[in-house]
Amino acid sequence: MKKRLLAVMAVIPLAIVVAYAAGPAGNAALGTRSYDDFEPNEVCAECHTTIARQYEQAMMSQSFTHHWDEIEYFELALPHAEKVAKVAGVKAGCNGCHAPLAFLAGDIPPKRPAEGTRANEGVSCDLCHSIVGFEGDVPFNFNFIVEPGEVKQGVRTGTESPGHEIAANPFMMTSELCGTCHNEKDPWGLWVKATHLEWQKSPQAKAGIVCQDCHMPPAAGNSAPEAGGVDHPDVRQHLFHGAHDAGKLAGSVEVRIHSNADRTKAGEETVFTATVVNAKAAHSIPSGSAEERLLWLDVIAVDSAGREYHLPVDPKGFEGEAWTIASADALAYQDFGDIQDIENFKGLLRDAPVPAGDRIFRLPYLDPEGRMTVAQWNTAAFGPDYRLAPLEAVNETFSWTLPKHVAPGTVTVTATVWYSKLVASVAEFLGVPEEESAQIKVSDHSTSIEVAPIAG
Ligand code: HEC
Ligand code: HEC
Ligand code: HEC
Ligand code: HEC
Ligand code: HEC
Repeated sequence: MKKRLLAVMAVIPLAIVVAYAAGPAGNAALGTRSYDDFEPNEVCAECHTTIARQYEQAMMSQSFTHHWDEIEYFELALPHAEKVAKVAGVKAGCNGCHAPLAFLAGDIPPKRPAEGTRANEGVSCDLCHSIVGFEGDVPFNFNFIVEPGEVKQGVRTGTESPGHEIAANPFMMTSELCGTCHNEKDPWGLWVKATHLEWQKSPQAKAGIVCQDCHMPPAAGNSAPEAGGVDHPDVRQHLFHGAHDAGKLAGSVEVRIHSNADRTKAGEETVFTATVVNAKAAHSIPSGSAEERLLWLDVIAVDSAGREYHLPVDPKGFEGEAWTIASADALAYQDFGDIQDIENFKGLLRDAPVPAGDRIFRLPYLDPEGRMTVAQWNTAAFGPDYRLAPLEAVNETFSWTLPKHVAPGTVTVTATVWYSKLVASVAEFLGVPEEESAQIKVSDHSTSIEVAPIAG
């Protein structure tokens, strides 16, 4: 017991020294380790059962094996990197975050998931718990510094484990740890992923709330009950749920709608205002993989005879606004044709399945020819950032001149916020399973207005 404590105390100063040492990080860390330097998740799972089961359900355990990741890396990024010098770096670079063990072991490109290599472990337990700090001032592009081995980076002082040494490393409690992978700068120097940078400017960050508080909230328990672990009131739950969890999305954006009058009549204009709020995230919604997410506001009026009227949003007139209002026929993603050598590729529907006229809260990613793209590594410019910032509301108006045939009586107007992880036309074209482009309801709200009978 005494000996173990001494050993623990001995490693604490060591970890602090390492945290400030400039280890190989980012691209320079390619091939500097071997797979054997990292213990597989099954080893940790023997004692840390609850955490292991939670983590298995999280996307980070599937960051290399998930179908859409496999398709985007092997069928778009890798062939593109092999033919265009400007983007050659992504051949290894994608793996710095998605298959960090393969990257550090220099196993590039990794074999396909079906081959069962250790690339499949993705963002593993031992990877995160070997991170001692990051290089430079801004965390991005896998610039974490790893020191794998006997010592696991933790947060508590005075805890002991029969399986490993423990270093209490305050870096584990920072958003910067997450930022090393949740900020990405592409070959054009653009921030194509900026979840940590968005967080930095959020009211929540100013209040001291970090990523871990929302994505790994504390619960009373014991992280290793069968192995001599101690009960704590605040064991970090390894949930990490995000856009792949309908329950996390539900209500993350709130909407309320009202009209400028309580009665109207056919031929008269009524203005409905929908207020949309990012009420729960400390970053933009959508964040991260914003290039492929769709978040939109749909407004439908139903008259007393049950007839439906779809109301298009009123344009506000800002530059690049056309990208934020759904079109029935606008095409985009033409860079797939260049990447996959498809002659005369016209592109795919830009906004599928969003009904024409709906407002889309998005950040348009533009390829070197100015066309919208979902290839974040092929992004040379952005359109306007029309996403929902943390704890901010946006008002959208819908001016509606009631048609002659509207039935007198109550008209109910419903605003619905929808989410889709991946543009449907892209999913269909690349054969990505449907669950990835499913339309998910985030929230809705209704208001009503009385329509007077037409006189005479
Ligand atoms: C033989 C059992 C065993 C194995 C295997 C094991 N651990 Fe632990 N670990 C423990 C115990 C016991 C504790 C102390 C828990 C406590 O009392 O809070 C612990 C604590 C930790 C802590 C928390 C440190 C702190 O106090 O903040 C981390 C992080 C950790 N382990 C990571 C890992 C990782 C990663 C692996 C796999 C590479 C692993 N453990 C494998 C038993 C084990
Ligand atoms: C105040 C709570 C809160 C904090 C703090 C927070 N998040 Fe989130 N996060 C959410 C909510 C709610 C969602 C679901 C809505 C969404 O998808 O944006 C989410 C979603 C996500 C997603 C999925 C986003 C997408 O569009 O694919 C990622 C990735 C993520 N968070 C990472 C982070 C990281 C990294 C940090 C710290 C830099 C962080 N979060 C801080 C609440 C939070
Ligand atoms: C994405 C990085 C990441 C991954 C992957 C990860 N952890 Fe953690 N883990 C953390 C962070 C960060 C904390 C500390 C959070 C805090 O206290 O602020 C933590 C805390 C812990 C703790 C201490 C819990 C407590 O509060 O007493 C244990 C034990 C642990 N992790 C084990 C594991 C095991 C086992 C796995 C794999 C099944 C794993 N972790 C995967 C980042 C990660
Ligand atoms: C080593 C790189 C790495 C680190 C460090 C890391 N992440 Fe991730 N994270 C990823 C990757 C890659 C994905 C995408 C997984 C996928 O869907 O392929 C991801 C996905 C997620 C998601 C799920 C988003 C969704 O769409 O559902 C959340 C939430 C998240 N991370 C939060 C965190 C938090 C919080 C931290 C810090 C405690 C963190 N991550 C640290 C690489 C990392
Ligand atoms: C700097 C780290 C980093 C790099 C480099 C990186 N990614 Fe990611 N990737 C992430 C994170 C973090 C997420 C999750 C973001 C979110 O959910 O908002 C993600 C999400 C994804 C997704 C979407 C996952 C989903 O299920 O929705 C795909 C596909 C993907 N990445 C492929 C790639 C490819 C291909 C490359 C190389 C061109 C690449 N990534 C480079 C960190 C990275």
